Amino acid sequence: MCGIVAAAAGNNIVPVLIEGLKKLEYRGYDSAGLAVIGAGAIERVRSTGRVAELEAAATGTRAVTGIAHTRWATHGVPCEKNAHPHVSGTIAVVHNGIIENYETLRRELTAQGYEFTSDTDTESIAHLIQASLQGEPDLFKAVQIACRRLVGAFAIAVIDQNQPGKVVVAREGSPLLLGVSEAGNYAASDASALLQVTRNMVYLENGDIAELTAHSVKIARLDGTPVERPVHVSQLSAAAVELGNYQHYMQKEIFEQPEALANTLEIVGGSKSIQPGIFGAAAADLLADVDSILILACGTSSHSGYTARYWLEAIAGVPCNVEIASEYRYRTSVPNPRQLIVAISQSGETADTLAALRHAKALGQPKTLAICNVPESAIVRECSLRFITRAGPEIGVASTKAFTTQLAALFVLTLVMAKVKGRLSAEQEATYIDQLRHLPVAINKVLQLEPAIKSWAKRFADKHHALFLGRGRHYPIALEGALKLKEISYIHAEAYPAGELKHGPLALVDANMPVISVAPNDQLLDKLKSNLREVQARGGELYVFADADSEIREAEDIHLLRLPEHYGELSPILHVIPLQLLSYHVALVKGTDVDKPRNLAKSVTVE
Ligand code: G6P
Repeated sequence: MCGIVAAAAGNNIVPVLIEGLKKLEYRGYDSAGLAVIGAGAIERVRSTGRVAELEAAATGTRAVTGIAHTRWATHGVPCEKNAHPHVSGTIAVVHNGIIENYETLRRELTAQGYEFTSDTDTESIAHLIQASLQGEPDLFKAVQIACRRLVGAFAIAVIDQNQPGKVVVAREGSPLLLGVSEAGNYAASDASALLQVTRNMVYLENGDIAELTAHSVKIARLDGTPVERPVHVSQLSAAAVELGNYQHYMQKEIFEQPEALANTLEIVGGSKSIQPGIFGAAAADLLADVDSILILACGTSSHSGYTARYWLEAIAGVPCNVEIASEYRYRTSVPNPRQLIVAISQSGETADTLAALRHAKALGQPKTLAICNVPESAIVRECSLRFITRAGPEIGVASTKAFTTQLAALFVLTLVMAKVKGRLSAEQEATYIDQLRHLPVAINKVLQLEPAIKSWAKRFADKHHALFLGRGRHYPIALEGALKLKEISYIHAEAYPAGELKHGPLALVDANMPVISVAPNDQLLDKLKSNLREVQARGGELYVFADADSEIREAEDIHLLRLPEHYGELSPILHVIPLQLLSYHVALVKGTDVDKPRNLAKSVTVE
């Protein structure tokens, strides 16, 4: 969701800006633009197409200082006049976030004679900075004055044609980091945009402002107090964000799952026992008197939470609730200081999850754990405990490897909680750890089902609706399957616990409604089979993902695929994989934009 790249260097920075925007495309956007200080004046290029079109439009543009942006529309439709950068007099600005008091600012600035040409909240920032420059000619200080008037979330980058060679950036609530090098200094929404020029990253804190030139970096708080921020050498490999031999990032990420799981579980090592310290030095003390768990998350991350609830209650005996972060943050709830808050997020920057976490802490719930794929993210930094999934960068908007690694992390949490509660024998623990360790091999075998799933996908291309069924810990897997299908193929899909079928969704079943069922061989299989017969009796067409030993037979109205092995408690981690593959291949058949589905963003950094 909205990406920023900015640069001040000794050489032409236009290729760096364009390459950086390409690396941020995965975040989701619907227009793009850049502004540079050319021969003494701001030159701006904007496009409502892809970054490649912006690149073509910017051919011939050269400069040593500039800012660039991909916009995901919030205020005003995607069109050229609303695309960033926004210009006011001598300055240009790009912005990620939402300014909540923009209407007040707009009225005020209009009264002062500033003319608005877009529908965005960002344009009020541009005019506000220009107004500040009238009393304070130094851009660094003028931006500080302007930022202090902003209410909401923002990351901004600003240039002024009267102060060439300088970029000023600031953040409050939205992500922004600096890349520092001998050749120049840069800023971006995430590290992947800057690996092309440097590995040395400086993570700005909320309320920080920085001035970059080709040879210097100056950081202060928004009140002007100078601060130092450490330089981190990014471990992110440039290859990890390349597509390689794959056609789409989603495909690459589905097939990376064995490695992602192996990397995530490396922390468990070769031992037969897991210690609470895996979640941080304070974990043993903090978890000792936990009496319940509340999981907060959005989207796919909430589905890993719903799955974990089954594990945490069944294996660890700890009461567990899962809430969609955007609901929890606004409802009146009863705080419980002994409850562990678990914030699950791939990006660690989802605005609702972060706000829900802060809300819980403000209510007096101090025990917090982040399960996250980005170690430097806000959610990780704001929790007392952490488990970093090591899925590697996830670029496809539809989350895949982040989900399965979150599940692995949550199973580790389950084992630790079960130990804390004295509910896990050494033998059971060793067996579970062996199963965790075997996951990469087991996933590899499931991935080999791809050709059969591909042949099923063709049958979905003309369908407008699909129903996903699961029971028990596989019900959240049905939810995730339905989400994947709707996200990338635009087929309306719903998931139901199979036992609920006759309380409504059965009315929808006919020959045009494919019914996809997750049918592992567990204690609910017989119940599920009865549910499937209810579908057959209404002329429904079933697509069943069973285990090797599930006693379900193929028939005219039952298409059947068997997963190679039955995986007990950890079975949800295997059963989601064919559903990911199914959505991917249905989307291919339908010709949709798999990695960047319409209207969606990878990191939802605004409400
Ligand atoms: C967006 C993405 C989803 C993701 C959700 C939560 O909607 O498109 O793939 O599951 O945000 O993101 P998070 O980074 O917090 O896991």
